[in-house]
Amino acid sequence: MSKLLESYDMNGTQLANRVLMAPMTRSRARDTVPDASTALYYRQRAGAGLIVTEGSQISVEGTGYLFTPGIHTPEQIKGWQAVTKGVHEEGGKIFIQIWHVGRISHVSLQKDGAVPISSVAVPAKGYSCYGYDEQGQPGPVPVSTPRAMTKEDIERVTSDFVTAAKNSMEAGFDGIEIHAANGYLFEQFISASCNTRTDEYGGSTMNRLRFVLDAVDAMSKAIGSCRVGIRLAPYGRLHGMHSFDDEENTWLLLAEKLSERNLAYVHLSDQESLCNIDPTVAAIPKDFVRKFRNAYQGTLVVAGSLTQETAEELVKSGVADLAGFGRPFISNPDLVERFRNNWPLTPFDHATFYGGGDEGYIDYSGYEQTAERALQEN
Ligand SMILES: Cc1cc2nc3c(=O)[nH]c(=O)nc-3n(C[C@H](O)[C@H](O)[C@H](O)COP(=O)(O)O)c2cc1C
Repeated sequence: MSKLLESYDMNGTQLANRVLMAPMTRSRARDTVPDASTALYYRQRAGAGLIVTEGSQISVEGTGYLFTPGIHTPEQIKGWQAVTKGVHEEGGKIFIQIWHVGRISHVSLQKDGAVPISSVAVPAKGYSCYGYDEQGQPGPVPVSTPRAMTKEDIERVTSDFVTAAKNSMEAGFDGIEIHAANGYLFEQFISASCNTRTDEYGGSTMNRLRFVLDAVDAMSKAIGSCRVGIRLAPYGRLHGMHSFDDEENTWLLLAEKLSERNLAYVHLSDQESLCNIDPTVAAIPKDFVRKFRNAYQGTLVVAGSLTQETAEELVKSGVADLAGFGRPFISNPDLVERFRNNWPLTPFDHATFYGGGDEGYIDYSGYEQTAERALQEN
């Protein structure tokens, strides 16, 4: 008996199975507005117990990459309404990942060429985002040096997150996932390797957790805590995050604090899949997930380099409640059906992950359609 394919009550949201489609930026939103292709892409993948959309910026200021969708204008909300309608018509559930990239941005992406913001005025050395180069052409550009956020900035960004959460409800989402992983704004505060502030948002572990916890509370108050999920990347090394002294304690204290908040879920992003692309990146230590599990009582999602077998093991052992899959969902829209029937998986193609049009986006067929076509051709 598969536990992975069993239904699951996620704090009141009923999921058909325990397979979660992990958030994946696809950079195909021309004007930052989800379109008909976006709606079809997610509808095709509605067999997941829960879809988490690609990172969607809460404001112009929160943007780090051209062609990523937002959730702060009426046009964007309308675009997302078509997406959620399609997924719901197929019987699926969908959360939107909302993000602010902080210092992983460029002046060309900011209003009136403003400087991006972060916990401190230190750039993520060696990293690029996707903006306009000096010739005004879209492309990878080195991230700009940010300015340190004032207390007023922190309040304003928190309020932008609350507005985005409310917009997400208007767009028909079942909930939101706060992006606090992968070296973006919240991690720039959580990690002592980046945050060297001396006010109440820096220094002690609790001070570094203050911004994210206050933001979680503000959004929970606005839309209900059971609709709020959060993604973390303990031991993450993306975008200039490094190890720091009380690293384990920081993540476990955050687990404890989140445990008190009756959320939809906490989602751990294991960056293991990037270890061979970026040598500075490391996987989450194996025994750490268990420790996190002990500290956090609610629904726990783990994602990163899982196979059907390892995911099954993960949920059967009770270490996680839901298993997240990223890349396999790109090339296997019917991933859950393939698991159910032991059908083979179509390999993914890195070349079409980001940008471009419908190729590599909505042209992957389900296994049955592919098999049918092969029969007709023979
Ligand atoms: C094309 C692509 C885009 C991604 N975009 C995001 C994103 O927007 N937000 C996020 O939290 N993680 C993002 N990720 C990370 C995935 O959610 C996932 O954690 C990662 O792919 C590892 O899972 P996998 O081995 O099942 O692919 C992205 C990964 C890929 C491959």
